[in-house]
Amino acid sequence: MKIINVVGARPNFMKIAPLMEAYKAYPEIAPVLVHTGQHYDDKMSDMFFRELGIAKPDVNLGVGSASHAVQTADIMKAFEQVCIRYKPDIVLVVGDVNSTLACSIVAKQLHIYAIHYEAGIRSFDHTMPEEINRLVTDSIADCFMVTEQSAIDNLKKEGHEEEKIHFVGNLMIDTLMANKDKAAQRQTYKGYNLHKDEYALLTMHRPSNVDNPAILEKLVGAFEQIASWMPIIYPVHPRAEKNLRHFNLWHHFSRMKNIILTGPSGYHDMLNLQMNCRFIMTDSGGMQEESSVLKKPCITLRSATERPVTVNKGSSVLAGNDTDKLLEYVDMIKNGNYKTPEEIPLWDGKAAQRIVEKIRLMLNPNAIRIHPKSS
Ligand code: UD1
Repeated sequence: MKIINVVGARPNFMKIAPLMEAYKAYPEIAPVLVHTGQHYDDKMSDMFFRELGIAKPDVNLGVGSASHAVQTADIMKAFEQVCIRYKPDIVLVVGDVNSTLACSIVAKQLHIYAIHYEAGIRSFDHTMPEEINRLVTDSIADCFMVTEQSAIDNLKKEGHEEEKIHFVGNLMIDTLMANKDKAAQRQTYKGYNLHKDEYALLTMHRPSNVDNPAILEKLVGAFEQIASWMPIIYPVHPRAEKNLRHFNLWHHFSRMKNIILTGPSGYHDMLNLQMNCRFIMTDSGGMQEESSVLKKPCITLRSATERPVTVNKGSSVLAGNDTDKLLEYVDMIKNGNYKTPEEIPLWDGKAAQRIVEKIRLMLNPNAIRIHPKSS
């Protein structure tokens, strides 16, 4: 059975790594790894392949950055040729980036069985490009691998049949568990002269936070206030840096006392910073999940989350870009009034194993015969 696995952007690499590893125990499955090239800088892509031990992709489409429509179209054009050449039985896409959307459409137009890992989660915020990508991908996928109960509920409400939905756990957490020891050995936070539990970690790159100069300026002001209590380290995403410079905020921000701005961080360095900080402020979906398992307070800089389990059971709270709320939550952490997180079902490091077991059952050609309704 030939299965094409698609990656494109930074958060995809942590999801595919344990899966590529798990396939190795099943010689009857022939995985092909396709990188769309949506992310291409060493620090946004190759570094993750090296650190997570992912083999070089079999194909790199090399599409690079562009507007949503151009990037999606470029991926579709190139991926169609790959599918024609490799003739896969299955295409597996992960997450919610433009590569996920583009490749699922191509697969389905060529009548190839499509699996979506991380299916069903919904922020219900249609201004997020990721929500559009999730909705379109799930409307055409044949099989849904899900990370939490809310995804099952959403998919059922949208009319998907229960037997196509598989609760498998969280691949991002498989990667976290497999790499915790390596990350602990790093000197990352010490290298910045920070002390354990005495700094905050910030990541922020979403359009809702960094595309509007007034919002971004207000957030920068709030971070300056927080830094008067506790140092903040911020590994800056290229998109955020571009906007901070464009809105003339970079100069002021980078010279603030107790604020350290660095370039994008590799996986082990970022995990080291997460494991040793006092709390996290982020708009990243992956970090909401990781902080919940690490049991670190996580103030999420988004007004809605497609990962409600990180709020209901995990360590995340939603502040959006409301700086009053953000400062309120920081005060709760300061005063020891923050909530205590619970364990999250199936986020146990065994998701890849469960997914590959499900795929193995599809070796029966009837199992992946495409139903006329979805072809
Ligand atoms: C993409 C995903 C987002 C995810 C994020 C993680 C979509 C719609 N968005 O957003 O869900 O949270 O990745 O990083 O797919 N750039 C570089 N080097 C790179 C890649 C990008 O400098 O290797 C710069 C370019 O200026 C580019 C900008 O970052 O225009 C944005 O990149 P893009 O891939 O379009 O979206 P992200 O904001 O990274």
